[in-house]
Amino acid sequence: MLLKSHILLPLISTLLTPASSTFVVQCFSRLFDERADPIVNPGVVAGHVHAIVGGNGFNFSMDYDKARASTCSTCYIKEDLSNYWTPKMYYHAKNGSFIPVPINGDNQYGDMGGMAIYYLNRKGPDNDKLHPFPKGFRMLAGDTLRRASSTDFADMAVQHQCNVAGGPFVDQALPKRKCDSIRTQIVMPSCWDGKNLDSADHKSHMSYPTKSPNSNYDGGRCPSTHPVHMMTLFYEVTYNTNAFANDWYSDTQPFVFSNGDETGYGFHGDFVNGWDIPTLQKGIDTCVDGVTDCEDKVFTKRTQGETQSCKLPNMIAEPVSGILEKLPGCNPLTSGPAYATKVENCPAAKIAKVSDASLGVPDLTKSKGWKYIGCGTDNAGSRTLNGPQTSGPKMTVETCVDFCKGKGTKYAGLEYSGECYCGNSIAADRAPQTGVSGNCLMKCNGNAGEICGGAAAISLYQTCAGGACSNAVKKRSQRLAAVHAHHARRLVGRLIEAAS
Ligand SMILES: *[C@@H]1O[C@H](CO)[C@@H](O)[C@H](O)[C@H]1NC(C)=O
Ligand SMILES: *[C@@H]1O[C@H](CO)[C@@H](O)[C@H](O)[C@H]1NC(C)=O
Repeated sequence: MLLKSHILLPLISTLLTPASSTFVVQCFSRLFDERADPIVNPGVVAGHVHAIVGGNGFNFSMDYDKARASTCSTCYIKEDLSNYWTPKMYYHAKNGSFIPVPINGDNQYGDMGGMAIYYLNRKGPDNDKLHPFPKGFRMLAGDTLRRASSTDFADMAVQHQCNVAGGPFVDQALPKRKCDSIRTQIVMPSCWDGKNLDSADHKSHMSYPTKSPNSNYDGGRCPSTHPVHMMTLFYEVTYNTNAFANDWYSDTQPFVFSNGDETGYGFHGDFVNGWDIPTLQKGIDTCVDGVTDCEDKVFTKRTQGETQSCKLPNMIAEPVSGILEKLPGCNPLTSGPAYATKVENCPAAKIAKVSDASLGVPDLTKSKGWKYIGCGTDNAGSRTLNGPQTSGPKMTVETCVDFCKGKGTKYAGLEYSGECYCGNSIAADRAPQTGVSGNCLMKCNGNAGEICGGAAAISLYQTCAGGACSNAVKKRSQRLAAVHAHHARRLVGRLIEAAS
């Protein structure tokens, strides 16, 4: 199992060769993928799913203090508790369903792929002093409705890099050819109006540099309306599109973003500042041309395991991974060139208060002496629990636990709303390992208040006979932390050996 962690190597090798006049905030995993966007849709469910990294103070609405109150982050610089997010990519299957494209680093333990955020020190032709992002600062770049190319810096700043032999090839659109991976990337604007921490469209308090023969979206002179020059943020998310290399079925490419965008032009990025400001200033001043390994000189760092064990539970009862029949948020597929229109009349989804009960886990510890141990994975070809099974239109967690209890097995597992499986062992690679709720998000046929697994996801219960009896909802994330810390230590050890 340890070997699977080698997927993380590309991210680590980036760290070994940092560019000068730059520092990189490496985010080794995601908090979660969720229809959350505290900038555009504060306090409510957002229009589409985002892949979200950074401090666990993130929430549907948040401010600088909430960010700073984070107790962990999926990004490795301790002084940075900011949040960064972008739309999530899906593969659109021939039969119409949507399957998440793995982000580089995702593995059997869950969403262990993240993002790299480059802080580029680009002072422009006048060698401007660069300023840190102030408290409460936030911004959005890109346009979720755009579906055509353009020569505006704001549009040119969104790109997709096809990593393939003979490449890489960079374009504003998603590549039409098969790529080993696609690196989606966006350069954020770097010129601030000096007054507003945010603006109505979340963009106009910022600007890209002024267009000139020598300028570009990632470097140049700031306009007089936006004279305060800041670091230039550059987001990179690498999607392992190669996982679907054998599943292309038409003359067009099969990947879409969560906002329904088939073109790639509607990709965007969001930033909520959560920095310790003096440390960010020190990074700006220190990480200049010729200085390498700047992260080590200025910042303190979390281990990779610490970043990977930082998770938030999903708070909206809708699946965002697994095999989806449609994109969450009623987003239709759009291919331009006309602008897409904003989705109206999508049934409102609720933000749930996170508790065992809201995760659909009934407490059977006292009534039946069985405990919930988490959400595992299953495979129709080789069942996780391969003992007796039953199914039915009135399935509840209680029905299944009673059935397996009657058969004398140690475990009971529920899947796909109405299937019940019993067994006496669970293979380690099928055991609960992902975030708090995993992909067990389907309601039980016989009780809509309970969760009965999901597609290829199994809600697992275990008899307490001979052991402690409490539901594992919270303990599991702690165990996950330990597992990842262990793996990270082993991995870093090997890297040091390999490098020396
Ligand atoms: C996050 O937001 C939800 C919904 O607004 C709220 O119920 C919850 O208490 C918030 N969590 C924290 C830690 O503030
Ligand atoms: C649709 O296609 C996907 C990908 O090939 C497959 O995994 C899924 O099971 C299919 N769904 C149905 C309902 O046939």
